[in-house]
Amino acid sequence: MPALGIVVVAAGSGTRLGHGEPKAFVELRGIPILEHALGGVLDSTEPAQVVVVAPESRLGDARTIARRVAGPVAASVTVVAGGDSRQASVAAGLAALGPDVAVVLVHDAARALTPSDQFDRVARAVRATGGGVIPALPVADTMKRVVDEVVLDTVDRRDLVHVQTPQGFPRAALDAAYAAATQEYTDDASVFAAHGGTVTTVEGEARAFKITTPWDLRRAENVLGAHPGGLRTGIGVDVHAYDEESPLWLGGLYWSGEPGLSGHSDGDAVLHAVCDALLGAAGLGDLGSRFGTSDPRFADAASEVFVRETLALVGGAGFTVVNVSVQVIAARPKIAPRRSEVESHLSVLVGAPVTLGATTTDGLGFTGRAEGVAAIATALLSAS
Ligand code: CTP
Ligand code: MG
Repeated sequence: MPALGIVVVAAGSGTRLGHGEPKAFVELRGIPILEHALGGVLDSTEPAQVVVVAPESRLGDARTIARRVAGPVAASVTVVAGGDSRQASVAAGLAALGPDVAVVLVHDAARALTPSDQFDRVARAVRATGGGVIPALPVADTMKRVVDEVVLDTVDRRDLVHVQTPQGFPRAALDAAYAAATQEYTDDASVFAAHGGTVTTVEGEARAFKITTPWDLRRAENVLGAHPGGLRTGIGVDVHAYDEESPLWLGGLYWSGEPGLSGHSDGDAVLHAVCDALLGAAGLGDLGSRFGTSDPRFADAASEVFVRETLALVGGAGFTVVNVSVQVIAARPKIAPRRSEVESHLSVLVGAPVTLGATTTDGLGFTGRAEGVAAIATALLSAS
C-alpha cells in the first residue's frame, strides 16, 4: 500500500479565538488543542509519517507535545515551521514529507476533536478514487446570498456542504498543485482543483468542527464533558488493634487521651485506607506493595508521608482526585466531635474533598469488643 503522510497545520495565530497565543497551544480541558488533534491523528489505523507545522516561536513546545502523544513512535513525527498563510504552512509541511509518501492528508489542528475514523475514511477514498477527497456535512440552515445586508436570493442548500479536514490527495498531484498555485485559497481541495484535480466527498463528522471562536472552544469543552478520560473508583480497608502505650493518630490528627493503634508506621488506619483506595483506583497496587511494610524507612513514619507519596504516584499516572470518602468503624474514639476538623485537614492534604463518617457495630466483632479500629475508604479519580 502506498505510504501515508499526514500534515497537521498548527501555525496559525488564533486571532478570532483571542487568547493572545497561537491557537494550537490554547488549552482545552487542560490539554493543548494540538495535543488533542494529534491524539486523533495517531489513533488512526494506518501507520503514517506525521508532519506538524507550528509557529516558528513555538517549535520546541510543538516537539514536546508530539513526544508526549507519540511516545515511542515520536521518530515518525516531524515538526517544522509554518508561514504567514495557511497555504504557506501546508507547503512547508508537504516539503517535509519523506520520498516514499504517496498519499497525503492535510489536517487543521484546530479541528481538535476529529475522530480517527475520519482519517482512515479519507485515506481509503483517496486510494479508491485516485483523486482528492474531502469530508463534508450537509447544510441544515436555509442559505441566502446577501450583499450589503440586502438578500439577493436563496441558494439551494441541497447543492451545498460544510467542508472539513483531513483533506486527502495523491501526493504528487498535490505537490504539483501547490507548486503551481498563484493565489491564496482557503483549503487544499481548492488548490488541487485549481490545478485540474477532481475532488469528491466522504461523510464528515460533527465532532470534526473547527475551533475558531471562544464559543467553539466552549462547545469543544462541552463535547469532552467534565471527565474526558473517564472516572475510576478504588476501595481501601485498614484495621489496627489498640495499643494503650501509643498516642492515637487518626485521620492525620492527634487524639489526646485516646488509646493509640499498633502496627506499622503510626497506625493511622484512616490514612492507610485512603492510600489503598487511591492506589487501587489508579491501578497502582496497594500500600504494602508500594511502600513495603518491612521497609525501615517507614517504620515510625507519620502516615501523611504515604499519602503524599501516593498522591505523587497517582498524579504521575495521569489522574486527579475527584473526592475521597472514608468511614471509621470503631467504639473509640468518638469521631463526630472532630469530624469536620478531620475533613478539612484531609481535604487540604489530598487536594480534593475528603468526607468522613463513623459507625459502631452494635457490640459485634472486634470493633464491637473495642479491640481496634477499622477504616474503609473509597476514592474517585478522573483520568486526564
Ligand atoms: N494555519 C497555519 N498557518 C497559518 C494560518 C493557519 O498552520 N499561517 C492553520 C491553523 O493553525 C489552523 C488551520 O490552519 O489549524 C485553520 O486555520 P484557522 O482556523 O483560520 O486558524 P488561525 O489562522 O490560527 O485562526 P485565525 O484565523 O482566527 O487567526
Ligand atoms: Mg486563519
